[in-house]
Amino acid sequence: MKQRVEAKFKEIFGTDEGAVYASPGRVNLIGEHTDYNGGFVLPGAIDKGVVLKIRPNGTDKANIYAIDMDQMVTYPVIESEKPAPGWSHYVYGVNCEMQKAGAELKGYDAVFAGDVPLGAGLSSSAALESAFAFALNDMFNCGLDKKVLVKVGQMTEHNYCGTKCGIMDQFASVFGKEGCLIKLDCSTMDYEYIPFHPKGYRVVLIDSKVKHELVDSPYNRRRESCERVVAEIAKNHPQVKLLADADFAMLEEVKGDVSQEDYMRATYVIGENSRLATTCKALQEDDYDTVGKMVFETHNGLSKLYEVSTPELDFLNELAKSVGVTGSRIMGGGFGGCTINIVKDELYDTFINEVYKQYEAKFAVKPAVYDVKISDGARKLN
Ligand code: GLA
Repeated sequence: MKQRVEAKFKEIFGTDEGAVYASPGRVNLIGEHTDYNGGFVLPGAIDKGVVLKIRPNGTDKANIYAIDMDQMVTYPVIESEKPAPGWSHYVYGVNCEMQKAGAELKGYDAVFAGDVPLGAGLSSSAALESAFAFALNDMFNCGLDKKVLVKVGQMTEHNYCGTKCGIMDQFASVFGKEGCLIKLDCSTMDYEYIPFHPKGYRVVLIDSKVKHELVDSPYNRRRESCERVVAEIAKNHPQVKLLADADFAMLEEVKGDVSQEDYMRATYVIGENSRLATTCKALQEDDYDTVGKMVFETHNGLSKLYEVSTPELDFLNELAKSVGVTGSRIMGGGFGGCTINIVKDELYDTFINEVYKQYEAKFAVKPAVYDVKISDGARKLN
C-alpha cells in the first residue's frame, strides 16, 4: 500500500518530497459501549489501516486525494466551508479540531489509501482521523500530546460526522502496540498494555457484510438512554456522573422511574464493566475458557438488552457456539459488521468451513474472514 500511495503522490504532485505515515483500525476483545459510559475497554490496533503521504505545500490550501474513492478535495486550511464528499469530513474535521486545540496548520498536499474494510466495525474512520492528526502534528511541529490527538479524532466524529462516539477507537489507533491489548479507563484515559498471545487459539473476525453505519443510527440513542438513567440515579447518588460509577443496587432503586428500555440498556452496561474485570483477571491466568464465557455473555447482552445485534450476527454467534468456539460476539458499535471469535487452533478450519457454508446458505451473502494481527498504532514510516 505504501508504494501505491507514494506512486500516486508523485503522479499528482510531481515530487518525491514528503513523509509517509500509517494509522490502524482496531479490534476490541471485550468492553463494548462502555467507553462513553466512563468504563473500561480492551481494544488492540490491527494490521490494517490508512497509509498517508503528506508534505507542506507553501500555500494556505489543503489538497487531499483519496485513492480508494479516486477523488480530490481542496479547501483553505483556515476558516473554510465543510467540503462535500462524506470521507472528507473526517479529514476536514481533524483539520478544524486541531486548530481548536491550538495547532497552527499551513497548507499541505496529501494522498492516502486504506485497507480497513468499510462498515465492518473495525474503525476505518478512526484510522483515517488518527493518520491525519498524527501526521499534521508531526509535520508542522504542533506539539500536541497524543491524548489530545485522540480527542481531536473523537471530536471530529461528534462535530463533523454526527456520531457521539466514545474514545476507544481513536485511542487504540493512536496508542496501539504490537502484541498487546490496551486496558483503557475511559473516564481518566489511564491505560495499561496487556500482552495478548493466546497460545493454542486464533482470533478471527467474521464479517457479516451487513452495512454498519453509525451516523444517524440508533448508536446515539443508546447513549441517550444511558444518560437518562444516570440522571435518575444521580438524584439519589450525586457522585454518579456516568454509568460506570453506578452499580446494580443503584439501578434497582430507579427501576420504576426509567423506561423498561433504558433499564435494559443500563443493565447491560453495568454488567459489561464487571465482565471486563473478570476477563482481565482470566487473561493473566491464561484462562481462555473464562475469557470465552465472558465474550459469549457480552454477545447475549448486546443482543437481548442493548439490542444492537442483527439476525446475521446472532446467527454467526449461534453457529460459533454450536461448533465449540471458545468465545464469540458482535464487535464494535453493532448494527452490522463483524463478530470476533476466539477459536482453538484445531477447530479453526472446521469453524471457517461451516461459516462459509451455513451463512451463505442462510443469507445468500458470502461472509468475509479476517485473521488480524495486533499491531502498532499511528506512526511515521520513513
Ligand atoms: C463504536 C464507537 C466507540 C464505541 C463502540 C462500542 O466503535 O466509535 O466509541 O462506543 O462503538 O463499544
